[in-house]
Amino acid sequence: MDKKIKVGIIGLGTVGSGVLKTLKNFDNIEIVKIAVRDINKPRDIVGLDKSLLTDNAYEVAENPEIDIVAELIGGIEPALSIIKRAIECGKHIVTANKELLAKRGEELFTFAEQHNKVILYEAAIAGGIPLIMPIKTILAGNKINKIEAIVNGTTNYILTKMDMQGASYDDVLKEAQELGYAEADPTGDVEGFDAAYKIATLATITFRKRIRIENIYREGITKIRAQDMKAANDLGYKIKLIASGKIDEDGNADVRVHPMLVSKKATLAHIDYVTNAVTLTGSPVGCITLSGPGAGEFPTASSVVGDILAIVSELGSTDYILPMMRCKHDDFAHMIDISETKNKYYLSIHANNNMGVIGKIGTICAENNISLASIVQKCVSEDNTAEITVITEIASESAMQNAIKLIENDGSKVESLIRVQV
Ligand code: NAP
Ligand code: HSE
Repeated sequence: MDKKIKVGIIGLGTVGSGVLKTLKNFDNIEIVKIAVRDINKPRDIVGLDKSLLTDNAYEVAENPEIDIVAELIGGIEPALSIIKRAIECGKHIVTANKELLAKRGEELFTFAEQHNKVILYEAAIAGGIPLIMPIKTILAGNKINKIEAIVNGTTNYILTKMDMQGASYDDVLKEAQELGYAEADPTGDVEGFDAAYKIATLATITFRKRIRIENIYREGITKIRAQDMKAANDLGYKIKLIASGKIDEDGNADVRVHPMLVSKKATLAHIDYVTNAVTLTGSPVGCITLSGPGAGEFPTASSVVGDILAIVSELGSTDYILPMMRCKHDDFAHMIDISETKNKYYLSIHANNNMGVIGKIGTICAENNISLASIVQKCVSEDNTAEITVITEIASESAMQNAIKLIENDGSKVESLIRVQV
């Protein structure tokens, strides 16, 4: 190659550092400028040329030498304004910013299209797994109508360690932060926001209809108790934070993130630690699962660098880069509210050990058209209370919520409700 492609990096944290270290292996790429928040911060990067650093991201966005900008700071602002300015200044964009794509994707992709520039974002969903490129290219001939996925490494790491090693939630969260998996504010991970951002964009490109982030039902993992994990195990399940999406023939979409009891016979039950996996069901391909490391410095860098190289390969040879990779979906899907869905449920009920308590639960469920697949009371505590574990057959969400109210009015406490994979 005669001319070096000039790249600017904005953000030199976990992901930015991995990208810089990886790009050093490519002779045809030159890093021209790197923006950070604090240029005096010590950084664990051997041979870092500090003269490249700036604390003004617009020096990257507006630099006339730069062809491609990698935005790796995260969040909405200033990332959005910086990316738009870079596009106005003629740069193609690579980003790992799932929050920005989920909340402002429509605006951003339209803006990029108006300026004939691309925004690639392989790293934003499921870290190192090649996912967006395959969906947009080799799977483009499919109609995919179902997604079931583990897309948050931090929560999968926490759930796996709690389940397999009996580790405490706080200790494992700290470990996930030290390993660079967690977001700057880990609430985004543990409360399911990060997974919701990812499934919003993933479902948008998969279903080819834009999914509104505000209509995605979301629950995190903070209410999962050790006894739920034990009970799930005893019943043949693992508890995972699942991001899912379904779309029907009329374009009605059910997209959500919540913990789920996944059968130990299912692939997703065996996706552990920081590994992510995405199962897509469609026609003609059938059912495929893509899996790999979902977070961390180098897996994420792999995807960012892949996107940069994809743009590099086209620069100069066409004015209209990677048309299949565009993400401009103007049609919005009609979103189904969780209250209108049907699910199987796991309930853990704390009840007084009175005669007939199990019968009462069964009656309330039957009166609400909920059939029970199993009901187990294991042991009675010294205070004469008991934990009763219920698994239902498929029932309507509104009926289930009504039954819970009636069970609680009767003096029992529903400690956990977790939906079960169907
Ligand atoms: P991080 O470790 O917190 O790094 C953020 C970087 O951005 C830091 O270098 C920070 O500078 C810089 N920065 C923040 N505000 C800035 C500003 N206004 N101008 C210039 N630089 C600024 O975050 P990260 O984990 O690398 O994540 C970056 C992005 O990748 C996020 O969108 C995240 O969601 C996404 N992502 C992360 C992972 C992962 O495994 N960590 C995986 C996939 C996607 P200082 O260093 O000076 O503080
Ligand atoms: N915090 C995210 C996770 C980083 O744990 O999956 C990767 O997107």
